[in-house]
Amino acid sequence: MLLILDTADINAIKHISEYYPVDGVTTNPSIIAKENTDFWSLLKEIRKIIGEDKMLHAQTTQTVSDKIVEEAILMKKELKGSFFVKIPISEEGLKATMELKKLGVGVTMTAIFTPAQALIAAKAGADFVAPYVNRLDNILGDGTEVVAQIVKLFKLHSLNSKVLAASFQNAEQVHKCAMYGCDAVTISADIPKTLISHPMTDNAIAGFNRDWKNAYGDKTILDF
Ligand code: E4P
Repeated sequence: MLLILDTADINAIKHISEYYPVDGVTTNPSIIAKENTDFWSLLKEIRKIIGEDKMLHAQTTQTVSDKIVEEAILMKKELKGSFFVKIPISEEGLKATMELKKLGVGVTMTAIFTPAQALIAAKAGADFVAPYVNRLDNILGDGTEVVAQIVKLFKLHSLNSKVLAASFQNAEQVHKCAMYGCDAVTISADIPKTLISHPMTDNAIAGFNRDWKNAYGDKTILDF
């Protein structure tokens, strides 16, 4: 399963890609707006940090297919490497997706809330579809169940699209998506730590340190 960071916070991207096995970065207009800086400098800085082999997904701000295609081609040219344009699902977005596939541009169809939307996006040729887990949970939907159904549908109909689950509030939602066979998750900067933390782990490490110190003081294996 791919582990992607859903942020444009440069410090967070630097830190997390150094300490965690991260496969790329996703952004959207709200995430970019939060940084309130020049679009190209920010995205190019992210590319510099993650390198060209890792995936960078950036969202179009256009709503008409010709303009979406134009913006996607420009972003792919400027941002280089493994690039996917994020396009919210709509008729114009689907038209653009089919065109971009002919042109060899990667597409992530985003703002997916139902398996039916995911199915049509996959048939249009989207490389990834991005269902929003927590936004569904927030309105008494079942975000991870929608992800499970999309995974099942794609298998059932041998569709090549990958499921990139997005919009997470907690580790439990991420865990469920992983259990359901989701291909990728994109998580905000505060989630990675919650995926590895456990009080029993802290306890175990404190015990190892205490026992070692009692026997050998400050001496480490390097000092023997
Ligand atoms: C992904 O495509 C979305 O940009 C993002 O994950 C939405 O997350 P949010 O619901 O936390 O804003």
